[in-house]
Amino acid sequence: MWFKQKTAEGNWQANGYLLAGGHHKYKKIEGIMANRKYIVGNWKMNGLRAQLSNIADIAAIAANHEGVDVGICPPVTLIAAAAQANPGFAIGAQDCHFAESGAHTGCVSAAMLKEAGAGYSIIGHSERRADQQEGDSEVKAKGEALRAAGMGAILCVGETEEERDAGQAIEIVTVQLARSFPAGASADWLTIAYEPVWAIGTGRVPDASDVAEMHAEIRKKLGELMGQGSEAVRILYGGSMNGSNAAELLAVPNVDGGLVGGASLTAAKFGPIIEAAAAA
Ligand code: PGA
Repeated sequence: MWFKQKTAEGNWQANGYLLAGGHHKYKKIEGIMANRKYIVGNWKMNGLRAQLSNIADIAAIAANHEGVDVGICPPVTLIAAAAQANPGFAIGAQDCHFAESGAHTGCVSAAMLKEAGAGYSIIGHSERRADQQEGDSEVKAKGEALRAAGMGAILCVGETEEERDAGQAIEIVTVQLARSFPAGASADWLTIAYEPVWAIGTGRVPDASDVAEMHAEIRKKLGELMGQGSEAVRILYGGSMNGSNAAELLAVPNVDGGLVGGASLTAAKFGPIIEAAAAA
């Protein structure tokens, strides 16, 4: 059971953990603190300044659904403008470098993202694991860099279609989670996203029973990796979530929210997912 309280300094704490910038909040249900739903949009390499108004529209919908945590991760070029235009709305990044600074041409550090207005970052997305050959140890270091900067992290894991067909999905995902799991993990800054690679951008979604099985395995692994407090770490589902399937996916046990790509680009598509989360 989780209790949220305000400290003498005016910061929020849950079971002794400081809640960084209100990043993780709890919903009170009959005296028990259950995880609030968390819906995050990943814009990937989409969006110019002309699309900033979409973020304002999404932030307005989010403001009408206070029981849900909502965020958007625009391309890095829009972070500062999006954060300035939408105070109080959770703007995040899609990736960060693990080093504080240095000779890493083209890369961006956690501190740079934070200064621009991002409160958290996605790390280990399967597109980066595949396209930029990012390995588990690098992803782990990125999480630790975000923690050091006082930011949140959304750590992505997921199996390929070949791995699922070979019956290896659970083994692949739980090993990936263990190897990319940052030190000092706690629910106030770390979120996990289960994203089957074959479901991303394809319109294909796993059966609810497969999602339930995987999320339960991830929850169990979190217990092994961090012990107390692991129940409060939110586990998002990602991969072709949309306004039509969100309610069913968000009703699955241990699905605490969604990481949404294509359907996060406009308020018309993202709004129904936020509404489904509010009703879940
Ligand atoms: P999708 O992407 O919703 O477009 O499938 C999800 C993701 O990659 O985070």
